Amino acid sequence: MSNVYVIDHPLIQHKLTIIRDKNTGTKEFRELVDEVATLMAFEITRDMPLEEIEIDTPVCKAKAKVLSGKKIGLVPILRAGLGMVDGVLKLIPAAKVGHVGLYRDPETLKPIEYYVKLPNDVEERDFILVDPMLATGGSAVEAINSLKKRGAKSIKFMCLIAAPEGVKAIQDAHDDVDIYIAGLDEKLNDHGYIVPGLGDAGDRLYGTK
Ligand code: PRP
Ligand code: URA
Repeated sequence: MSNVYVIDHPLIQHKLTIIRDKNTGTKEFRELVDEVATLMAFEITRDMPLEEIEIDTPVCKAKAKVLSGKKIGLVPILRAGLGMVDGVLKLIPAAKVGHVGLYRDPETLKPIEYYVKLPNDVEERDFILVDPMLATGGSAVEAINSLKKRGAKSIKFMCLIAAPEGVKAIQDAHDDVDIYIAGLDEKLNDHGYIVPGLGDAGDRLYGTK
């Protein structure tokens, strides 16, 4: 069963409250999504393996730790996931970035895939899939399908806000994918929006309607 981590760090919770507020404008919304993505990246990388190497400090030789293990692939679900990319790259600048383009049909709420481009060495990378919103879970499940179909073996999913329905959808379809959430909300409304949520993440990030 997927592990679900709600990252309830005070800085993340404070920033998430401003993100949720409908009076927060596009510029501030975008900046805060970027900051929260950085803070969440700190948590999501907590289990990265380390190895010891020998270095020369100005004082002496020393054994010191560096990251070892597999390389990271960062994949935003277009379009709103793009808002989290730079924030994660601040901590993991060497990550390669793939893209999965999906939109949710407003009538059926089913995801429609329109673009996929991943790094060549998919099988060798640990993937972090990012999208601010996990609502019905259709988009995340489809994006994970898409990564796995192309050979991805290790995937973590990271979002700002999730509905219980979306968490269950990932767990049912992909029990090997751990889920990292800043805010676990109450429910979905009749239009598939997260309640209380933050509204339409893509529109708020890019000032569209
Ligand atoms: C939003 C959001 C997720 C999806 C979540 O994208 O960014 O990708 O909805 O909903 P789900 O869990 O029910 O699938 P949207 O389809 O609005 O596209 P956009 O990012 O291009 O605005
Ligand atoms: N997509 C969004 O952007 N917001 C929601 O609440 C649900 C899906």
